[in-house]
Order: sequence, then C-alpha cells, then structure tokens
Amino acid sequence: MLKSVEWVGGRVRWINTLKIPWEEEYVETEDPERVAVAIERMEIRGAPAIGVAAALGVALAAVKSRSEDVEKLRLDLLKVVERMRRTRPTAVNIFWALKRVESVVKADHSSASELREAVIREALRMHEEDVEVNRRIGEVGAKLIEDGDRVLTHCNAGTLATVAYGTALGVIRAAWQAGRKIEVITTETRPMLQGARLNVWELMKEGIPVKLITDSMVGYVMSKGMVSKVIVGADRIVPPGYVINKIGTYTIAVLADRHRVPFYVAAPTSTIEFGGSIERVVIEERNPDEVRTVLSKLYITVPTVEVLNPAFDITPPELVTAIITEKGIAEKPLESSLWRLKD
Ligand code: MRU
Repeated sequence: MLKSVEWVGGRVRWINTLKIPWEEEYVETEDPERVAVAIERMEIRGAPAIGVAAALGVALAAVKSRSEDVEKLRLDLLKVVERMRRTRPTAVNIFWALKRVESVVKADHSSASELREAVIREALRMHEEDVEVNRRIGEVGAKLIEDGDRVLTHCNAGTLATVAYGTALGVIRAAWQAGRKIEVITTETRPMLQGARLNVWELMKEGIPVKLITDSMVGYVMSKGMVSKVIVGADRIVPPGYVINKIGTYTIAVLADRHRVPFYVAAPTSTIEFGGSIERVVIEERNPDEVRTVLSKLYITVPTVEVLNPAFDITPPELVTAIITEKGIAEKPLESSLWRLKD
C-alpha cells in the first residue's frame, strides 16, 4: 500500500505531491525544519497527512538532539512543536496531532532517552492509527454508495492527503473494491489542481473510472443529472456542523442543494473541533502567484494584478447531508450526532 508519509529508520520520507502526476519523487530528511517547509510548500498536504507529518517532524527533533538533559531536550522539542504549529493555520489535525505530542513532551520522564522514545512512539502510533481510521471511514461510508452512482469529489482527500487510503477517496475506494459499479467526477480544483493532478493519478492507478471537469462545470453537470452524490473531505469541522474545506467546496454544496444531490463529508473524528468556534477559524490566504499562474509555470494574467487567494471556505451545516467518520455517520440533526461521536 502506498504511504504518502513514512518513518524510515529515524528519517521522515514522503512523496512530493507537487510533482504528481509527472514524477513520483520521494524526499527523505532527518531535519525537522525540512518537514515544516514541506508542509508549507504543500509537498505534503491534506489535513490528516500534515498532522502526522508534523508529529513525525517532532520525532525527528527527538532523534537529532543529542541532549542527555531531560529539561534541555524538552525545551528543544517544544520549540519544534511551535514551529510546526506555524506551518498551516486551517486544518485542525495539525493542532490536534501537535497537542498529543506536546502532552507527551510535557509529561514526567526520568531521563532524556525515555522522553525521546516516548515522543517517537507517540508519532508512530498516530501514523499507524491514521491508516486504520481511514480504512474504517471507507467501510462505514461505502454503505452509502450504490451501483450506478456518479460521485463528484473536489480537491484530493485520498492517499495523498492522509498516510494511506484516504477519506473521501477512501469511501469511493471501498465501494469500488466491494464491487459497486461507480464513476467519479473530479473537479480540477484551482489553483493547486489537487483534483486534476492527484485524484486523477490515484483513481486511474486503481482503474476506478474518473472524469475530469473544470471547477466552473459543476452547475452544468448537476443540472443535467450527471451527479448522484457528492463526497468531499474536510480540514476542520466545527459543531453544529460547519465544514471548512478546499476553496470551492461551498459553491458545490450550494449547487448540490439546488439540485437535490446528497452532499457527504468524510473525515476522521480528529478533524472535528469539539468546543471550537467558527469565528476563530483562520482561513489560510496563500501566495497570490498561485492564482496569477498555472503552478508557477505560466502567468495567465497581468503579473501585477491584485489577487484574493483564500485556500478554504466554510460550508454551513444546513447544506451537509451527513458526515462520515471512523466511528459512524453523523446524520441530521448534525450537532447532536457529532457530539455523540466524541468519545
Ligand atoms: O490545501 P490542501 O491541499 O492541503 O487542502 C486539502 C483539502 O482541502 C482536503 O480536502 C482536506 O484536507 C481533506 S484531506 C483528507
């Protein structure tokens, strides 16, 4: 099974998603700062993947530090935790993962080597859990997919957004493996083209039928009855059911509502910010050149034009049919169903 990010003998290794589909480039490092930069540049991207990568980055710092003094090592690790927290602001998984690592760093340890091992163990546990959780989301969600479905997805919520398997694509994968005859329609997902580059690459590799459309075609294909379900991932879900996901998700949800197409979100419970508030969500504003160019290769406008580049949007609960998690499906009323998944 392809793993987008891995721990290989004290180093972190990942597939550089910026190079897909042209090249399968694997990058390996023993430097936590290099992991932070990979998350910022989106070599590693997708909420669950960046959460696990950030935790593995702290584990690298534990390996790298030669300190025999437990307090000194603790301070070194907390600095790396803070660095990782500044990489990307919207996906809650990164903060969730770092909180887990931080609580291990802050716990009582009798020696530096005990602290070092505990941090590595916790990061590796999260890595393992992510694969299991995604498989489970697939199993749970596949029940919603019927023969003949044409499922629209947006951005990449597949292997390349998690450690393996994926959330939204995990559901599609599980349904396909269970023998359901389905077809996927993916948007290209401007400006970083996660749909065109990553979904098409992942789905074609497995022989799952896929058609690519530009983002602006969603209304037309829905109005023609060509979409029976929408499934997307999420970077953050805030009760009562706000879904923060790749820019363009909200537009698709509005169109799905207009055309009576069920709008499903697949995400691990670590993406749900219980007790969070929608007012406090920071929507990442990325480099304007992502919009001015096609993947930094070609300017498609006057290079000095002012640009808006919010990387995510917010879909309100009333547009969400259900949320598929590893612990079950949260249906309407979403708020109470989400809280039931908490423990
Ligand atoms: O900017 P990205 O590519 O990191 O955005 C990713 C998404 O919006 C995904 O849909 C989300 O993280 C879910 S991934 C399982």
